[in-house]
Amino acid sequence: MDTQKVALVVGAQGVIGCNLIAHLRDQDDWNVVGLSRRGGESAGRTQHIAVDLLDKEDARAKLGGLRQVTHIFYAAYQHRPTWAELVAPNLAMLVNTLESIEPVAGNLQHVSLMQGYKVYGGHLGPFKTPARETDAHFMPPEFMFDQQTYLENRQQGKPWSWSGIRPAVVGGFALGNPMNLALAIAVYASMSKELGLPLRFPGKPGSYDKLLEMTDAGLLAKATAWAATDPRCANEAFNIGNGDLFRWSEMWPKIARYFDLEAAPPLPLSLTSVMADKADLWKQIAGKHGLAPHSFTDLSSWEFSDFVFSWDYDMFGDSSKARRFGFHEYVETERMFMDIFDDFRRRKVIP
Ligand SMILES: NC(=O)c1ccc[n+]([C@@H]2O[C@H](COP(=O)([O-])OP(=O)(O)OC[C@H]3O[C@@H](n4cnc5c(N)ncnc54)[C@H](OP(=O)(O)O)[C@@H]3O)[C@@H](O)[C@H]2O)c1
Repeated sequence: MDTQKVALVVGAQGVIGCNLIAHLRDQDDWNVVGLSRRGGESAGRTQHIAVDLLDKEDARAKLGGLRQVTHIFYAAYQHRPTWAELVAPNLAMLVNTLESIEPVAGNLQHVSLMQGYKVYGGHLGPFKTPARETDAHFMPPEFMFDQQTYLENRQQGKPWSWSGIRPAVVGGFALGNPMNLALAIAVYASMSKELGLPLRFPGKPGSYDKLLEMTDAGLLAKATAWAATDPRCANEAFNIGNGDLFRWSEMWPKIARYFDLEAAPPLPLSLTSVMADKADLWKQIAGKHGLAPHSFTDLSSWEFSDFVFSWDYDMFGDSSKARRFGFHEYVETERMFMDIFDDFRRRKVIP
């Protein structure tokens, strides 16, 4: 029997997608096809395709031959300035993917949908914690509801199943992504050091002592692959967190120590504003320390970081459903941050 599975990772260059590919690449029973607009270098059992999923014709032309796909892992994302504007493009990309693949992939077994705590309204303000998969939806617009409803409807009567994966803020290696908190902290800390400043917490004072959760991108990749292949997870959603909680008041001084800096108390600084004139400073730092030639834009997710640091309310879910269904991995969040910073250093992204 052929046990080889073929993963279509949609959003292959994202902080979630690229770490999922790294995980699947290490498993002998997966071949991988990655989709993004920028594409990538195909190697071994991993193939990259450059496609604009907002363009129905492009999607059809580039994906219509992928008959061998057995699992779709959907983790693409289009950013827009308002919650309402996010709906149309993010639904269209999912629809164009399914409409291109499902009719040709005769052995399609599973569609995994990457979601998040937006499903619980975590981005809107104080919400019920710990958030659980059974919590009721709220008044839309919310693109994640539209995506899930579309998938649930399309799955009716089909041989494939779906799963919804709901991580907290994700930590992992990636470049050129609008939502990468660990990278933003690493760049902010490296600049603070260069300028002889302590590492000041740039968020709202009220966010410094609230409970927060993160999800390591490697752990998330394992959980995503598990939910896509364990029959018990068919048509279920799962919160996936590291398994611990933290407060910035405790984590921030540890991060400061990693960068050999003193921690300074909160001051609400808009990183979006203060970083607007820092491209030259980064160029100097990169030259001085022989860093890899990445553009400052590729290292910038200031808007997202401002958003995370503004959460002056608890932000965490209950991941026990995944454990009840059989996923028992965990990652210590402090270790996760330090490992990611080490990785950025190894790759010469930061000094
Ligand atoms: N990052 C987090 O902390 C986090 C936390 C919880 C939930 N989530 C959710 O997880 C999902 C993925 O997030 P992410 O942070 O991994 O996103 P991301 O880093 O912005 O990655 C998005 C991916 O989608 C691709 N893409 C965007 N537009 C495309 C298009 N028109 N055609 C083809 N590919 C396209 C991008 O590549 P190109 O730009 O090359 O096209 C990239 O590979 C989102 O729904 C997000 O809300 C993220």
